[in-house]
Amino acid sequence: MDSINGKNQKRDKWGSKLGFILAAAGSAVGLGNLWKFPYSAGANGGGAFVMIYFLFLITIGFPLMLAAITLGRKTQLSAVGAYRSIKKKWAFVGGLGVICGFFILAMYSTVGGWVIYYVIKALTGGLSSKDPQVLGKIFGGFITSPGISVAYQGLFLLLTLLIVLKGISSGIERASKIMMPALFVIMVIIAIRALTLEGAYEGIKFLLVPDFSKINMSVIVNALGQVFFSLSIGMGVMVTYGSYFDRESNLLEAGTSIPMLDTIVAILAGLATLPAVFALGFEASAGPGLMFVTLPAVFSNMAFGNVFCILFFILVLFAALTSSISMLEVCVSYFVDEKNGDRIKSSIIIAIVIFMMGVPATLSMGPWSDLTILGNLNFFDFYDKLTSNILLTSGGLLLSIFVGWVWGADKAIEEIERNGIKFKLAPIWKFLIKFIVPPAVSIVLFNSFKEVITSIM
Ligand code: TRP
Repeated sequence: MDSINGKNQKRDKWGSKLGFILAAAGSAVGLGNLWKFPYSAGANGGGAFVMIYFLFLITIGFPLMLAAITLGRKTQLSAVGAYRSIKKKWAFVGGLGVICGFFILAMYSTVGGWVIYYVIKALTGGLSSKDPQVLGKIFGGFITSPGISVAYQGLFLLLTLLIVLKGISSGIERASKIMMPALFVIMVIIAIRALTLEGAYEGIKFLLVPDFSKINMSVIVNALGQVFFSLSIGMGVMVTYGSYFDRESNLLEAGTSIPMLDTIVAILAGLATLPAVFALGFEASAGPGLMFVTLPAVFSNMAFGNVFCILFFILVLFAALTSSISMLEVCVSYFVDEKNGDRIKSSIIIAIVIFMMGVPATLSMGPWSDLTILGNLNFFDFYDKLTSNILLTSGGLLLSIFVGWVWGADKAIEEIERNGIKFKLAPIWKFLIKFIVPPAVSIVLFNSFKEVITSIM
């Protein structure tokens, strides 16, 4: 795909069916799967979280993914335009996604910076300790030193910017064909090693066997937030990507294969991380540092561990970049399409603004850790909760109402069934998108707000 989407240009199409699936899967598969899913599961009661995640994935995630790409393909417009072309007043939903993009990318770039640092650390053999304490110190020392961590955050954004500017997404698309399967294979190998560590069984149990007593509102809110975050839904990314979809293509295939791929990678990451947490004596609820501390320890317990470590962090970086470009792209194309902005200038300015927004998030790991907003949240957690639990969720809610009721589920089904494709599950999808998704997401959203309000009080 060429990412340029000016008004007067003929819209580009995905080079191939695989091209779309790879780019959309590239957006979906990222730090959300590899880094966030394992630590969120660890911090939210393990199996209980995973079970609710699955429940939401099937009843909310799948239907919304299909709704988003169908809306995109029908209108052939990116988010704001897509909503507007069907109902003028709804353009604001696209705008909400753009705002959300700034916040998510600000926070994402903090972690993206960590990954770059770890690639370099791995290359220079700096992660080859078996001692959890030592690995913990390496991570802690890095994220708390303001100068270096901010520099790496900037570097991550710079890479994202360069890719979006150069419009080299076609190169990315090509690279994805190798990198994504490679990531998959290496995750399987790491998971096998982690699962065969002595004492790993406790971790498998923790991840897969739900302990119902651990379910509370916060677990539910975080599980839904994770579904949205992981699938890149609720911000307009999938609407935009769907708009590049060829009229002849099969939306059902794309709409099911992306969430499936995404979920497999998340589960693999969980199986690579959590058993090792138990086997090697880490803390499951350790939070954002989990992947960066546990996995190097797994590598140290592996033959050719160093090689795996290097490969792994390079692939994580690649996965993170294919996600971050999708976020930046949504913000940039808004200013180019809607405000007639110059593409290059807009991209640079947006990246700088996001960088500045991201600095407090990065610093909140160190010098600014005591600086809290909304009660007890530091900047990083604030961005995280604001996006996953409020903005994406609102975006998803509005998307379901829009496609189910405003545009109309039947019209969407008509679009899906173009070219004689038969959508056998259409009645179920229609029921979910109209009657299940809106109330279910509303309830969770209401509780997110309640959490926020009680934390301020
Ligand atoms: N889904 C990506 C991940 O799992 C992150 C991401 C990319 C995203 N684009 C998004 C999240 C849009 C929400 C909205 O890492």
